[in-house]
Amino acid sequence: MSELVRFGVSLERKLLEKFDSLIRARNYTNRSEAFRDMIRQELIKREWLHGKDVAGAITLIYDHHRKDLLNKITDIQHDYQRLIISTQHIHLDHDNCLEIVAVRGKPEDIQVLANTLKAVKGVKNGTLSMSSAGKEVG
Ligand code: NI
Repeated sequence: MSELVRFGVSLERKLLEKFDSLIRARNYTNRSEAFRDMIRQELIKREWLHGKDVAGAITLIYDHHRKDLLNKITDIQHDYQRLIISTQHIHLDHDNCLEIVAVRGKPEDIQVLANTLKAVKGVKNGTLSMSSAGKEVG
């Protein structure tokens, strides 16, 4: 762990009250931890904007009964294999599958993969969770 540095922050009282209420709602135990997380979140946004090496997860919910859909999703994943670290398939219930695709690579490539998967007919919901490969967030 790198050296801890303390510094003072001046804020309008009202803004600080809003900050405290926000971090309570998010279950942070103290302001420092909340502040660190917000900074890291901004750094991750910048990584995604500036084409750094990033990581994330694509989550898909789709109809288990449509075998054509399953094939299509698998085909796409083979086409983008260089971006995919692993795929987890969960049988949610009788009708629905949840698939979590862990990805790593260039943001623009990952976006294309996520959009391609989300656009497959029959995918009920698709999300891209944008995270970091870890280098820039200390
Ligand atoms: Ni399934």
